[in-house]
Amino acid sequence: MKRTLRIIISFILLTGFSGLLFAQQRVAGESNGIKVSFTVQKDTVEVTMEAAVTGWIAIGINPSNMMKDADYKIAYVKDGVVYIRDDYGNGLVSHAEDTRLGGTSDILSYSGKEEKGYTSITFVIPRQTNDKNDRPLTPGNHKILVAASDSDNFTSKHKVRGSFVITLP
Ligand code: HEM
Repeated sequence: MKRTLRIIISFILLTGFSGLLFAQQRVAGESNGIKVSFTVQKDTVEVTMEAAVTGWIAIGINPSNMMKDADYKIAYVKDGVVYIRDDYGNGLVSHAEDTRLGGTSDILSYSGKEEKGYTSITFVIPRQTNDKNDRPLTPGNHKILVAASDSDNFTSKHKVRGSFVITLP
């Protein structure tokens, strides 16, 4: 009887602890109709960006001034295919592909859809990479730029833009 009790207590403790260790925590923000959620796992973050546009949607993590020095993830859906890029803010109002700046593309997986004028993109990135063009998603506050457009490319200017601050666990 004692043994059964011990097994039951161990099981409860183990599942409780692993639940704490591997818990997913979600934070979200919205600006000018662009919604973004961040689901934090141990070493990765799953990001979902949504907006009423038919072109690209992007986030820019921790700029220094305007668009400069932010870590951009920009994506669009064209004919059912998702195109996504890992960029860096190389100027006050410009960004370029990490791989063109001596860095790496650090998007682990992605998916997305465009339906009735609404686009939704989900991707997974590491919390921290070795690329100097990426901003680590450490616990604490992060400024997130958001922007979106009706153009299916990585270069047209935004039709809507905004920003918010998130606090990551
Ligand atoms: C795709 C090419 C892009 C071009 C050509 C572009 C261009 C510009 C320009 C000219 C401005 C100056 C203000 C204005 O006219 O609105 C600006 C500001 C801004 N852009 Fe971009 N942008 C691009 C992409 C992005 C992306 C991907 C994001 C964010 C995810 C973004 C976020 C912003 C924000 C937040 C501002 C306001 C900055 C401030 O006033 O502090 N832009 N952009």
